[in-house]
This record gives sequence, structure tokens and C-alpha cells, in this order.
Amino acid sequence: MAMRGWLLVISGLVIVTTSFASSDELQKAAHDDDHYTAAHPPSLCSGDRKLTKGYKCQDYDVITKDGYILKLWRFREGLTKESQMEGKTRKAVFIQHGILMNGECWFTVSHADQALPLVLVEEGYDVWVANSRGTTYSRRHVSSNNLTLPDNFWDFTYYDMAIYDLPAFLNLVYQETGQKVHYIGHSQGTTMMFAAFSLWEVESRVKSTTMISPVVYLNHMPFTIVSLCAKAYIGEIAGTFGLPDLNIMVQPVGAIVRALCKVPGVDCFEQLVSLFTGVNCCLNSSTVELWFASLPQPTSIKNLVHWAQGVREQSFKQYDYGDPMTNLEHYGKPKPPPFDLQKIPKDFPLFLIYGGIDTLSIRTDVHILLGKLRSRRNIRELYVDNYAHLDFIQGMTAKDVVYPDIINFIKGN
Ligand SMILES: *[C@@H]1O[C@H](CO)[C@@H](O)[C@H](O)[C@H]1NC(C)=O
Ligand SMILES: *[C@@H]1O[C@H](CO)[C@@H](O)[C@H](O)[C@H]1NC(C)=O
Repeated sequence: MAMRGWLLVISGLVIVTTSFASSDELQKAAHDDDHYTAAHPPSLCSGDRKLTKGYKCQDYDVITKDGYILKLWRFREGLTKESQMEGKTRKAVFIQHGILMNGECWFTVSHADQALPLVLVEEGYDVWVANSRGTTYSRRHVSSNNLTLPDNFWDFTYYDMAIYDLPAFLNLVYQETGQKVHYIGHSQGTTMMFAAFSLWEVESRVKSTTMISPVVYLNHMPFTIVSLCAKAYIGEIAGTFGLPDLNIMVQPVGAIVRALCKVPGVDCFEQLVSLFTGVNCCLNSSTVELWFASLPQPTSIKNLVHWAQGVREQSFKQYDYGDPMTNLEHYGKPKPPPFDLQKIPKDFPLFLIYGGIDTLSIRTDVHILLGKLRSRRNIRELYVDNYAHLDFIQGMTAKDVVYPDIINFIKGN
């Protein structure tokens, strides 16, 4: 099946859906979704442990400064004898997923040795897995009555995750373990951290950062569904609903991929998911069921718009409210302030891992990022020629190609 054919079908659907969905319908969809909070699903740690391959974890509820209640999972018990670590202190590792994912994305693989958090537990680490605001287990707010979400719940972008979610998570880990963490982020999980350096004192809570599929600059995004959405569809939404009123959630990718996967003969994994992420070499197509049970996850429209601004304007900065007066209200300046990569301390340990055919973390753009980080003293790179966006965290070969290097890097820092 020609990729281009599918690309057209999907882009068509995206545009049709958004042009015809009225604000009312979207509001209703958002409202229906609010009931999710009433029937909050059992957390990963209290479920049947199938996804975690029998590994135990503990739930933590973390409250951010702006009132979001987020779920954090802690793994600190290995299954093999060597990993029991009697009486020894486990070093803390914190793992942050990307956009349209949640903490479950690290586990939608067939074997424990393919799941990074579980590999790290076996290696003797105390592993903390985050769930960003708006995803399945982190859709609560202190001002909510458990039945509906506050009106402005979906008024956030990755900026809010960088300035509120990350410190809330990392303060809790610090409080529980007395340790700074080794941070591992994927995709938006790297963007949040690169932004965080401009917003608070990261080095007070973080020892090293491993950035998998880093996304900071989006200058060379190829013609994919994402670039198309960024350039056309997102602009439409923003125009239709008025920029300040983006307090709704959206699952365009999820809904469309799910709908199309009902068409017989379409291999969801290899064709559809690849349209968004680049052609992943090494996913196990037998794990499709597992994958679609938890992914893709929703996020806010405002977050997608913030991303789209990055694609269109080729810069890494705070959210642009679209008119100088509103920006002035928020930032005291007519333009949104850029995030400053020079805020990263000179000798801070950074590990950048990127792939040759990733269409979200594009090689040329990672090189631009590396150029800006050149003055850092402690920087390491791993480039994997045949990897796309998901291979790094869900690929069958990541346990040989990627995870040993991560462990090595953490051990050395
Ligand atoms: C692929 O997934 C199936 C079903 O989970 C599993 O039985 C098989 O071992 C997996 N293959 C690899 C190489 O992981
Ligand atoms: C919301 O649910 C929690 C846990 O089930 C409960 O402790 C709390 O009292 C509830 N809050 C309201 C306002 O009903």
C-alpha cells in the first residue's frame, strides 16, 4: 500500500473532521470525557500486573502547584535473585514519556527485557515512571468534585509540564529517597526538560539527563501527517475556536488511527503509526493489542498549538497567544520569551540518543541542537541509523542497541 495514498486519506479525514466538528460537538466530546474522572481506572500498580510482566509497583499521587493531581509509579523490586539488593541503596531514575503517550508506553512490549523501566529495576535502580497531566491516570484536579474537571483543566502546554509537573514529581522523589534523579525523557519528555533549565534550578533535583529522540527544533520536519497538521489543521482550530479558549482536550491521532485500524488489511503498526513517527524498524506487530489498549493518549489543543508554533516558526519558546497585547499580559513583552539552552550548566551530564529515520526528532534538527550545546563539557551521543521514534522505547532490539548505553551513562554519572 502506497504510503502517500494513506497519507492523503488521513490528512483528508483530519481536515474534514476538524472543519465540520462544531465547537459545541467538541465541547460535548470534552465534557463526555470528563466523566472519565468519575470512573477512574485502577492504576497500573493495582491492576493484574500483566502490562508490567509481573513486576510490582507503588502508586504515588503528586499535587502540582497549580492543583493537578498526577500519578507517579515506583518500581524497586526486581524478579531475579541478583536484583534483590538486600540492604543496598538503589539509585533513583526518573522516566518521562512523550506527547500522546502516558507511563504505560514503556511497557507495551512483549518481554520484560524490552521494557526500559524493568531493565533498570533488574540493574538495581529505584525507578519512577511519570504520567503527564491530561493522560489516563493524571486527569484529576484538587478543585474537582471527582465528577467533572474544572473548566480550564485543558489550558496547558508542555511549558506547564516543565514548570509545574516536573518539580512536583522530582520533589516527591527527593523527599522519599533523599536523592537527585537520573532523568530519562523521550520526545516531549526531552522538550520539557530542555525548557525546565530556563524555568527552575534543575541541577538541585537532577544528576544527569538522557534525552531519547530529543525534540527542540523542528526546522526540518519532512512532509508527514504531523507537519501537515502543524501547518494547516492546527491553524484552523486555533482560528475557529479563538486562541484564548483552548480549554479542551483532543485526541485526533487516537481517534483517526483507531477508526482506520478497523479497515481490514491495514497493518496499523507498520503503516499508520509509522505515518506519525517515521517507519519504525523493530516493533513487534503482535503487540498491537497491547499498544492500542493505552496509546495514543490525549493532550490539550493548546499543547498541539504550542508544538505547531514550533514547527511553523522554527524556534523554541513559550506559547504565543497570537496578539501582542495578550502576550504582554502574560509575559510583559509583545513576543513570547525563548527558552534559553545556555541555562544548562556547562558540565551537566547530557546524553542525546537519536535515530536516522525518526520524523519527529529529525537528525538534522538534533544536529542543530548539538551545535548549540557544543560548549558543554559532558555530552554524549548515540545515533542509530535505522531507528524511528518508537524503536527507542518499544523496539525489540532496543535492549541491545540502546539500553546498555543508557545504563553505562548513568553508572558513569
Ligand atoms: C512478539 O510478540 C509475541 C506476542 O507477545 C511474542 O510471543 C514474541 O515472543 C515477540 N517477539 C519478540 C522477538 O519479542
Ligand atoms: C473524591 O474521591 C476521593 C477518593 O475516592 C475521596 O477521598 C474524596 O472525598 C472525593 N472528593 C469528593 C469531593 O467527593
